[in-house]
Amino acid sequence: MNVLGIESSCDETSAAVLSEGILKSNLIASQDFHKKYGGVVPELSSRAHLQIIVPLVKDSLRKAQTDLREIDVVAATAGPGLIGALLVGLSFAKGLAFSAHKKFVPVNHIEGHIFSGFLMEKKPEFPYLCLVISGGHTLLLIVKSDTEIIKLGTTVDDAAGEAFDKVAKLLGLDYPGGPLIQKLAMKGNPKKIKFPVAQLKNPYDFSFSGLKTAVLRFKQKEYGVNEKIPESDLPDITASFQYAVVEALTQKVLKALHEFNVKSISVVGGVAANSSIRSSIEEIGNKFGKSVVIPDLQFCGDNAAMIAYRGMQLVKAGVNFPFNYNAFPSLKKSYLRFWKT
Ligand SMILES: Nc1ncnc2c1ncn2[C@@H]1O[C@H](COP(=O)(O)OP(=O)(O)OP(=O)(O)O)[C@@H](O)[C@H]1O
Ligand SMILES: [Mg+2]
Repeated sequence: MNVLGIESSCDETSAAVLSEGILKSNLIASQDFHKKYGGVVPELSSRAHLQIIVPLVKDSLRKAQTDLREIDVVAATAGPGLIGALLVGLSFAKGLAFSAHKKFVPVNHIEGHIFSGFLMEKKPEFPYLCLVISGGHTLLLIVKSDTEIIKLGTTVDDAAGEAFDKVAKLLGLDYPGGPLIQKLAMKGNPKKIKFPVAQLKNPYDFSFSGLKTAVLRFKQKEYGVNEKIPESDLPDITASFQYAVVEALTQKVLKALHEFNVKSISVVGGVAANSSIRSSIEEIGNKFGKSVVIPDLQFCGDNAAMIAYRGMQLVKAGVNFPFNYNAFPSLKKSYLRFWKT
């Protein structure tokens, strides 16, 4: 089965070709210009997707040394994401599939992240504990099979990536804040400032808004409301913040490993690129004798390879989507079908 995957849910346009489960190309065009606005501007994002999607898909097919005639399935992200941005990729993918007589499969973006570990040589083994940490989601799941996902917990407020981005903003750093915080934190002392780790009623839920407020209060107390933080203080502040995030994530993973018998641990989503989180989870995996699968960086952030992979899984599972499938009900349906809470 040859699958063309298309992703356009936020500020990355991506096109990938997966042939018989082997990745042949995965091109990602990132919209860096949002930096100057301090976050993603939806309308500008949609327009940028529109400009690049055709050449990107052509390049991806060329890089895979194939052409549209050889493609069997077109899989595209149907949600969640920015509505205008999603519609560009989804409408393009539907039009392409319809005109070229290909099967069309709408894919849930988070399901794409959840199974992204399968793009690696060492794959997760079912059942696996999956920590989804992205710009808009934080979820702890047990993935029992291609079509059975049990949700243990989620965030009650900000997502992990959102916390990185918001804290970066209040420290005067650019968007996206995650990679910049990681870089500064490498030179800092993570135990210098004690930031809180939220404890919630559902022990598997997450909360990051209190942590964000604690960083804000620290800044106001130490430097005043409108003062800039001296650059020399940023390493310790970012390291201490990152330490609290790692603590919050690893506490839940440890608890789940004590309670549930899983074979592997997989950490996915944009924040899974964080080196401190990666090494902490690797350490836990070693301690518990579980294999750990954290995708390469190109599969952590948004990418079409994971969409193509999930599309292939859905086709193999016999899920049939009508051609006039609508993007937004599809999301709900997908959750109802595959997500058990
Ligand atoms: N090294 C890093 N450390 C921490 N966070 C990081 C790192 N690299 C990227 N991020 C964060 O990852 C997030 C982007 O991830 P991703 O692209 O998966 O999110 P999204 O697609 O916008 O959200 P979602 O997948 O929930 O719809 C941003 O918040 C960014 O700051
Ligand atoms: Mg994402």
